[in-house]
Amino acid sequence: MEKKRIAVFISGRGSNFKAISEHIKNGDINAEIVVVISDNPEAKGLAYARENRYPTQVFEFKKGTDRVKYFESIMDFLEDRDIDLIVLAGFMRVLSENIINRYKHRIINIHPALLPSFPGTHAQRQALEYGVKISGCTVHFVDSGVDTGPIIKQAVVEVKDDDTENTLADRILEKEHIIFPESIKLFCEDKLKIEGRRVKII
Ligand code: GAR
Repeated sequence: MEKKRIAVFISGRGSNFKAISEHIKNGDINAEIVVVISDNPEAKGLAYARENRYPTQVFEFKKGTDRVKYFESIMDFLEDRDIDLIVLAGFMRVLSENIINRYKHRIINIHPALLPSFPGTHAQRQALEYGVKISGCTVHFVDSGVDTGPIIKQAVVEVKDDDTENTLADRILEKEHIIFPESIKLFCEDKLKIEGRRVKII
């Protein structure tokens, strides 16, 4: 089977990107990271990308940037790079319809809560404020809603009485680093089959 060509989108620290990169380097995932794209020139994950000689491209999103045009320029950039999969690894922007349609069922996101609970930003804070006893993380395909696409994998994390947003986020992150690479591996082996809202592993 041919290596899948991946574009990774990041906005910040990039720990999920690093976890995925390590699984690719050790041969566990049959893929190549073709480019790392960030909306934020200061994203810490860009340093890791450069140290590891991944091509990087910053598409800075400034105040007043037109979202549709913004994603059109990203699509133009990706057009001749033959991308099989877009991985949103802590990319903090809602994608436009046109890029979602262009890469239908080929964009995967990680979210730090058990969807459909607590979509959007500050998921860990939302979970603590609600008072749930368990939370976790979700890997899903991206559709036109916010964190609403078909779910590939989820992992559960217990919420402790003395948890803060940071301690909970840290424990959830450990699980993210497991289920995100696992999900990407399945995609790269053509083992994910979407049937309506359900994703089956074949
Ligand atoms: C992760 O916790 C990820 O689930 C979350 O941002 C963090 C990025 O960390 N993503 C979202 O909240 C998306 N809505 P990382 O940059 O270290 O991978």
